[in-house]
Amino acid sequence: MKTIIEPFRIKVVEPIRLSTPDERRELLRKAAWNLFAVHADDVMIDLLTDSGTSAMSAEQWAAVMRGDESYAGSPAFYRFESAVRELMPFKHIIPTHQGRAAEAILFSIVGGPGRIIPSNTHFDTTRGNIEATGATAVDLVIAEAKDPENRHPFKGNMDLERLEELLRREAAAIPLVMLTVTNNAGGGQPVSLENIRAVANIAHRYGKPLFIDACRFAENAYFIKCREAGQATRSVPDIVRDMFAVADGMTMSAKKDAFANIGGWLAMHDDELADAARNRLILTEGFPTYGGLAGRDLEAIAVGLHEIVDEQYLRYRLRSNEYIGERLTALGIPIVKPVGGHAVFVDARRFLPHIAALQYPGQSLAVALYELGGIRSCEIGTVMFGLRPDGTEAPADMDLVRLAMPRRVYTQSHADYVVEVFEEVVRLRDRLPGFRITWQPRQLRHFTARFEPIG
Ligand code: F0G
Repeated sequence: MKTIIEPFRIKVVEPIRLSTPDERRELLRKAAWNLFAVHADDVMIDLLTDSGTSAMSAEQWAAVMRGDESYAGSPAFYRFESAVRELMPFKHIIPTHQGRAAEAILFSIVGGPGRIIPSNTHFDTTRGNIEATGATAVDLVIAEAKDPENRHPFKGNMDLERLEELLRREAAAIPLVMLTVTNNAGGGQPVSLENIRAVANIAHRYGKPLFIDACRFAENAYFIKCREAGQATRSVPDIVRDMFAVADGMTMSAKKDAFANIGGWLAMHDDELADAARNRLILTEGFPTYGGLAGRDLEAIAVGLHEIVDEQYLRYRLRSNEYIGERLTALGIPIVKPVGGHAVFVDARRFLPHIAALQYPGQSLAVALYELGGIRSCEIGTVMFGLRPDGTEAPADMDLVRLAMPRRVYTQSHADYVVEVFEEVVRLRDRLPGFRITWQPRQLRHFTARFEPIG
């Protein structure tokens, strides 16, 4: 069969409230054209993020009922711990309430002024947690990653020469090397097994541990299976185990590739580091057998980890994003290629060349998608990155719009609807306005800035 169907059927439904463009124009005005200020029940297709937005399975909900809420030693923790260890065999597995809590604990121990933490590309909370300790976060992704048209199969790979060069120069300042799989930048671009092993090799030669930011590890493993020589006949769990066999630790957001609505963990082999992390955990998250989570959340993660490495699911998952990417490309809409694991990125600057970067083409496209079709997406461009600490503004490297796909939530007809809304946007593209900011905070302005259309 040609059609890759959604490998699940629907048992519980959440109604979508259908709204009209007129209604949404009014809602946009009230929200000062900031989509973070729009109420979720006024959104028809919510592609703001794939984080915490998964549909849980019947088995996960059944496990939720089993959740034991003991303060110490809950069986839920031991089920969670063994589910993690089956894929990622670390000695110490420390639950946290989400990914950034694991990052905050790790960098409160190994960060600090003068320290340098390299990665392919740090996610913004990772960078934030590193910088909050006074350390410096360095991104060393391969050059191909910065060209949206370049179809390199592993655009998340670390630039090995630059990593080696940094280690040679600054080894004393570097407590560990990180690698984000998949690389969120560009929509979840994978890192090859070869690259993971090479990064580990280089780090270990300098006596540095490798920590993997593993939020989308299963999508990464399936890309390895599909694209890397010699991996096609191997099982996804085996590839996952290979990815982590060379690592010394990991941070994880269970809100992505564990199908959970909340949760995360920090794991490592090193006993001393684990002791320090657990001490910190008790202050900020909770006792080490629940770490900021309810027992029921730990159960949902344990089952989710089992389900996420299913190849039928992963095949459907990657194909459903690729499908949207192909159809947008056929409409002449520039996107980041190849499509990543969890999102399609539209190049709004190239799509709307009549809007200057400082008039936010990404914001214009995101607003049009909501106004015309009730779709919520996320600007990743000059609104997000353009404000400098001294209060001046400069265009970001790119003005992109991210369509992030929640897991197991939307069907192909929802995808077809998204494409139809883009057809309408294409018809109106010359008339889409730029925006100006009428109020903004000093940091992280994209969450709360107020806008108005120009003209
Ligand atoms: N690392 C990566 C690569 C991420 O994408 C995220 C979250 C985190 C760490 C932090 O995890 O949200 O559980 O604290 N990314 C979400 C997104 C928010 O929309 O891309 P968290």
